[in-house]
Amino acid sequence: MARTAATFGGMTTDIRWVAVNAPPQLEHDVVHLWRVDLDTCEAAEKRCRSVLAADEHARADRFRASRQSRRFAVTRGTLRHILSGYLHTTPKQLRFAYGTHGKPYLESPQADVRFNVSHSGGVALMAFARVRDLGVDVERTMRDVGWEQVAERFFADSELDQLRALPGDQRRSGFFRCWTSKEAYMKATGRGITLGLGNFIVRVDPALPAELLSTAEGGAGDWWLTQVEPGAGMAGALCVAGGPLEVQYFETTTPTPD
Ligand SMILES: CC(C)(COP(=O)(O)OP(=O)(O)OC[C@H]1O[C@@H](n2cnc3c(N)ncnc32)[C@H](O)[C@@H]1OP(=O)(O)O)[C@@H](O)C(=O)NCCC(=O)NCCS
Repeated sequence: MARTAATFGGMTTDIRWVAVNAPPQLEHDVVHLWRVDLDTCEAAEKRCRSVLAADEHARADRFRASRQSRRFAVTRGTLRHILSGYLHTTPKQLRFAYGTHGKPYLESPQADVRFNVSHSGGVALMAFARVRDLGVDVERTMRDVGWEQVAERFFADSELDQLRALPGDQRRSGFFRCWTSKEAYMKATGRGITLGLGNFIVRVDPALPAELLSTAEGGAGDWWLTQVEPGAGMAGALCVAGGPLEVQYFETTTPTPD
């Protein structure tokens, strides 16, 4: 059982990633956030691969590096195991379909469970809720992304202004707050990069709660954005349609039993 800190509504709280073998009941007023170790043992990888559909096997096989192939297979296999737990079915029976911009959703069985997945290095975050669309993002903060150049290229002007107004020692975490918030919102809408990175503005200050401040199309208040602390050396964000929900944190290092 691991502990990590998160900030909600301006208050820092101590959150727990609770290790469980099977998904607990997914109620309507919560989001379940799962942290998954993708560099898992061979047996777990095998169990994940054993539940993949043909197109997922084909995708796993297309990765040149075996590590990438394993991480994809473990992500998808674990997603299937968790979803099947919520839906009281078997992982293999799930059928996914994809939105216009590639967002996976459950085609069969038909259910009100929504989900989104993000991976970075050996870690994946998976978010689940009932009815509400959502998006999640995780990034490794230690890797060298040349963040100043990336910010200048991709952030909206007002986000750049917010970033530059931060004290020097907070700019790197401000960059990742902004990046993960933008990704989580883009993924929640399902439109990804086609949304236009300059067409919406998020809060950059890492000392304040994450927030979607405005969008070119209006309706920023229709989305709830919150930061996530996935663990040391990582930043994350979660975006959910509608108002705030309670977030419950789970982790698994092996797939849940069938
Ligand atoms: C998918 C996308 C939305 C995010 O990609 P990413 O950050 O590289 O990857 P993540 O690990 O966070 O997410 C990948 C997962 O998102 C899901 N996904 C794919 N397309 C999606 C979409 N349109 N909307 C939501 N989720 C999507 C899939 O489950 C995918 O997992 P898989 O590859 O195992 O199937 C990508 O298409 C994109 O638009 N990236 C923008 C990159 C960028 O320039 N960001 C700048 C931020 S300032």
